[in-house]
Amino acid sequence: MDWGMKNRLSQIIKPDGHCMFLPIDHGYFQGPTSKLEKPGETIKPIIDYADALFCTRGVLRAAINPQGSKPIILRVSGGTSMVGKDLSNECITTSIEDAIRLNVSAIGLSVFIGSDYEHQTLKSLGKLVDEGERYGIPVMAVTAVGREMEKRDARYLGLCCRIAAELGAKVVKTYWCENFEKVTGGCPVPVVMAGGPKTNSDLEVFEFVYDGMQKGSIGVNLGRNIWQNEHPVAMIKGLHAIIHGKATAKEANELFVTEKNKKQK
Ligand code: 5RP
Repeated sequence: MDWGMKNRLSQIIKPDGHCMFLPIDHGYFQGPTSKLEKPGETIKPIIDYADALFCTRGVLRAAINPQGSKPIILRVSGGTSMVGKDLSNECITTSIEDAIRLNVSAIGLSVFIGSDYEHQTLKSLGKLVDEGERYGIPVMAVTAVGREMEKRDARYLGLCCRIAAELGAKVVKTYWCENFEKVTGGCPVPVVMAGGPKTNSDLEVFEFVYDGMQKGSIGVNLGRNIWQNEHPVAMIKGLHAIIHGKATAKEANELFVTEKNKKQK
């Protein structure tokens, strides 16, 4: 691997081999997502605990201070919306030149495997990897499931992650599922976990992140379960303790409870 590629990867994956990406890209198809109406404000109290920020160029230019910013993973796919016909009909929406101009550490794109647009989105991944390799920019593939969250099982997600890695993604983002070791075990590049919609309990998030880490994931790209939580700082501190501090789910939850009570005093 060339120096530039290695250097960029080391900006987003820390020396312990783990990473905590904070995604705020949801607006690219959801519009002003709850608690993300003003992304710059949303991230203010929590960004210090993240290793990288995942966002679009629009939000980056409009809402993120370029001075002293965290490393950026730029979302470069889109072209659909919640009210449109099919969320999987994505293409590349940002040029590699603009990614270079923005000095990003990585670029990210969704693939919709098993959908009507499987071929199109996988072709986009191949093209993006070619461009990324040309300039030393790693690609994070996002294995998207659209509205069909029930697709989240090890067989399907394992298939998606492996295909994304075969096409050249340097990191793959997927969802946690039961038997997660089957997903990471069949994927030759690092796997990170998304959070998905807000869960019913806070402990659930710590439990699945802890389980995924034990089963070979290197970290998270987890948004709504942090910034839609009533106590986002306590939440991100708990997750940070699992990812970079070797805490168990129980210990992370205890830290979360302590932090949220501190705030209430
Ligand atoms: C949205 C994304 C998000 O980056 C990803 O789903 C992680 O966010 P969350 O934890 O809220 O699911 O790709 O399209």
